[in-house]
Amino acid sequence: MSSQIIPVEPFDYIVFGGNGDLAERKLLPALYHRDHDGQIPPEARIIGASRSQISDEEYRGFAREALVKHVKPEDLHEVSLDRFLQRLYYRQIDAMADGGWDELRALLDEAGQDRIRAFYLAVGPALFGEIASRISEKGLSTPNSRLVVEKPVGRDLASAKALNERIGRYFDEDQVFRIDHYLGKETVQNLMALRFANALYEPVWNSTHIDHVQITVAEEVGLEGRAGYYDKAGALRDMVQNHIAQLMCLVALEPPSAMDADALRDEKLKVLRALKRIDGTNVENVTVRGQYKAGASGGAAVKSYSDDLGNGGSDTETFVAIKAEIANWRWAGVPFYLRTGKRLSERMSEIVVTFRPIPHNIFAGMAAGNVQQNQLVMRLQPDEGVKQWLMIKDPGPGGMRLRHVPLDMTFAESFRTRNPDAYERLLMDVIRGNQTLFMRRDEVEAAWEWIDPILKAWDERNVRAQGYTAGTWGPSSSIALIERDGRTWHEPD
Ligand code: BG6
Repeated sequence: MSSQIIPVEPFDYIVFGGNGDLAERKLLPALYHRDHDGQIPPEARIIGASRSQISDEEYRGFAREALVKHVKPEDLHEVSLDRFLQRLYYRQIDAMADGGWDELRALLDEAGQDRIRAFYLAVGPALFGEIASRISEKGLSTPNSRLVVEKPVGRDLASAKALNERIGRYFDEDQVFRIDHYLGKETVQNLMALRFANALYEPVWNSTHIDHVQITVAEEVGLEGRAGYYDKAGALRDMVQNHIAQLMCLVALEPPSAMDADALRDEKLKVLRALKRIDGTNVENVTVRGQYKAGASGGAAVKSYSDDLGNGGSDTETFVAIKAEIANWRWAGVPFYLRTGKRLSERMSEIVVTFRPIPHNIFAGMAAGNVQQNQLVMRLQPDEGVKQWLMIKDPGPGGMRLRHVPLDMTFAESFRTRNPDAYERLLMDVIRGNQTLFMRRDEVEAAWEWIDPILKAWDERNVRAQGYTAGTWGPSSSIALIERDGRTWHEPD
């Protein structure tokens, strides 16, 4: 089976932070792939903007290097690369003052007012409001414009509200695309397909049949040169408020009436609002904070967080585990165990749905072996795919011997296509004006409403980050968190 490429309308992508880390690692490679696959029309342009004083040609040089570094050699084709680079332009901009805006407007106006303009803010959140206001005040915004905002949207509820309000003064909500790139990952969309394009799962997708859910987003990497941002954020803000909360919503939401932006987001919002509050009364029982110590990762010795930071005084968490609960009819009594961390044993993200044990074992007297609980394992990375673990009879003679085996559907093998990066899909959705996989304002705020009391309780009750050796699965208290309930973290196979 091959993927289907539907060309989008001509556009100008204006990337603020155009020569920054995100543009280099994700945005330019994603746009290159879409171009190479024939999705981008000939007139479309990509305009880098930032403080640096560089020419169009120098920007093309930067992009060439970025692509050589971040696109697999077998996917990098000289003809496509040259064509892609010719789409690139660059304008120097001062986000906090007037410099450069007229020049950028003139370049955009060359393509007329009707051309789709996508303003992508790949910059620190402190600049979101400034840039949004200047885009509007300097006359760059048109009815056919969209604003793309990277996370984090705020650092707590109050700042998120203030930012959303400020952006809302210049852009309508249907023009604002708040990116959570986890929503663009193939498995995440496949979760929607599994749940709502099959009759099999929905009847058992509830507390009667599901024992618990685990969501793990484990990373091998450490700070990656982002110490300034990360030390102020920590894992709860960086990963749980957005990526993990969103994954939890997609597992838990009620069937939307259609796969459209508002129907889906209405249902996600209900999940966020139903999350049981974690505060000073229960924070020590249901959360764990950790920070990595020196150890080994990917076969090499790595430094501690303090050494990476160059500052021994920080208590920022690089690991968090939470036992979350959703207070509604479908999920009452079904824990959602969440964990994420840097410098863990391996890079591995997955959602594991464990079904309840069978009510009665008819094989008990037969030395048939244990009957294990069914599990649906949705692997986001690496090796995206889905496995449904079932009990079967071991084939051949020898009596009734039971075995736990996976029905395996590893996408790369089953469909033999390149697995597109999440950004490829999302960048094209922006042009198509499809907000289904983007966060709505009220969702972001509802997620903060759940996170804020956790942050406050950690602070007030002085819940310290516990050390864990880099290259392990986090602090021992994370294991204790789930073992207290008689369960264990899923071991990746
Ligand atoms: C980002 C976080 O949103 O997601 C990073 O800010 C994290 O800290 C990254 O490393 C993980 O994304 P992925 O796609 O590599 O799992």
